[in-house]
Amino acid sequence: ATVRYEAETSPATCDGTIDSNNAGFSGSGFCNTSNAVGAAAQFTVNAPSAGTVSLAIRYAHGATDTRSADIAVNGATIQAASAFPATGSWTTWSTKTVSIPVNAGNNTVRLAATTAAGLANIDYVEVTDGGTPPQQNG
Ligand code: GCU
Ligand code: CA
Repeated sequence: ATVRYEAETSPATCDGTIDSNNAGFSGSGFCNTSNAVGAAAQFTVNAPSAGTVSLAIRYAHGATDTRSADIAVNGATIQAASAFPATGSWTTWSTKTVSIPVNAGNNTVRLAATTAAGLANIDYVEVTDGGTPPQQNG
C-alpha cells in the first residue's frame, strides 16, 4: 500500500512556513523551511510491520544552489547530505525516492537541511510497503 503524508498536516512539522504561492503542490500547501542549516521538515509515518519501505519525497527546487538534506529515521541518519537536484522552477515538482528501515507502528522521518539555504520546498512524502503477505490457512 502507498500512504501519503502532507507536509502541512499535523503531526508533520515544518521549520518555516506552509506556503501555497508556487502551484502544483498536493493538499493545501508545502513546507518552505527557513534559510538555515538544520531547518527541517518532519513526518510521522506508519508501517504495518518492521522492514524496509520506499519513501518518495515530493519537492521543488527552483534555484540552482545545492539543497542537500540529512534524512533520518527514528533519529538515525540513513542518508547524509542527500541531494535534492534542482527542478528548474519553483512550480516544477519532482520526486526523490529512498529506501528506509521502519519499525512496526509510527516512525519519525526527518529531512534536515545541510546548507544555509534550507531545504528545497517539500510537498509530501509517500510510503510504499511490500503489501500484506498471503494468509496461511490450516
Ligand atoms: C522563492 C520561492 C520559495 C522558496 C525560496 C527559496 O522565494 O518562492 O518557495 O522556498 O525561493 O529559495 O528557498
Ligand atoms: Ca525556502
